[in-house]
Amino acid sequence: MPKEKTSILFWGYNENAITLIKRMLMNGTAEKICGIIDSNKELQGCKIENFIVMNPKSINELQFDTLVIVSDNDKEEILKIFSTIDNRKPKIIMAGIGHLDFKDHLYHDTLSSSVTSPRAFGYKNMLIHLYQSLDYIAKNGLKGDIAEFGVYKGGTTVFLARIVEKLGIKAKIFAFDTFQGFPKRKSVFDMYDDPHDEFSDFDSVISYCEPFNIELVKGDISETYCRIEGIPLVLSFFDTDNYSPTRDALDMCYRQTVKGGIIAFDHYCCDERWLYTLGERIAASEFFRDKNVLNLYGTGVFLKI
Ligand SMILES: C[S@@+](CC[C@H](N)C(=O)[O-])C[C@H]1O[C@@H](n2cnc3c(N)ncnc32)[C@H](O)[C@@H]1O
Repeated sequence: MPKEKTSILFWGYNENAITLIKRMLMNGTAEKICGIIDSNKELQGCKIENFIVMNPKSINELQFDTLVIVSDNDKEEILKIFSTIDNRKPKIIMAGIGHLDFKDHLYHDTLSSSVTSPRAFGYKNMLIHLYQSLDYIAKNGLKGDIAEFGVYKGGTTVFLARIVEKLGIKAKIFAFDTFQGFPKRKSVFDMYDDPHDEFSDFDSVISYCEPFNIELVKGDISETYCRIEGIPLVLSFFDTDNYSPTRDALDMCYRQTVKGGIIAFDHYCCDERWLYTLGERIAASEFFRDKNVLNLYGTGVFLKI
């Protein structure tokens, strides 16, 4: 029996579709193309050589056995639309993992309009996880304040404060730092002191944080952490890069974290370039060994059960 001819439908009008179709025209395989569609009305009617971009409504009139989803970001949406308008089961071809990107307007708008960039990126998704923690805190009505240990220029502090305001969370942020760099080592586990992560213009941090409900607590965290004594916490973020300040503040922090509250670490699980921040992880693992918390592998987020 002769093999049935392949007939390809492209979904999505973009650079990839143009490249693919032009290549097929050049290598003589364009007769396999049965059409190109796009749900964006503004793109319908556009042309790639002789192929006119059609409305998905015309899909039932087309004979095809292969559906090429050309959009990386929207492939999930396209598949869902296809399944509602056509009950055939063509071979699906797609590429990329852009659909897995974190897509949240509030997160992206707040980040892109940050005057000072947050440095909560010990691992790729740390800032996203902090954002999701606040979203979860808001949705579950958890009541308490927020602490950040290791502030640098205040990039993450203000990012959190803006999200707190936008989500309607009633929380003050206590932000701890020497505001003059890493103090003298107290433990062999205090291994990190990269000058790139030191910032001593305290006045500029004060004026950056001033419009928000933020209290800056200046000094060595091992001595200042008691500022939060007696204050219920919904979220604590540790980013000291070292063992001693983390280990010293953690006990009080945990005791005062409300049930369901979150303690997060920038360097519990992190990229290789932060290897010498291992002390922060050692402090967390040591402390949480006998505590009832949920930490999903690959994240620095601990949820108090
Ligand atoms: C990586 S930076 C923090 C970045 C910040 N969280 C952000 O996301 O923008 C680390 C900070 O921890 C502070 N730090 C480290 N050890 C400390 C200690 N024992 N007491 C106070 N601050 C400390 C340093 O001064 C530095 O500003």
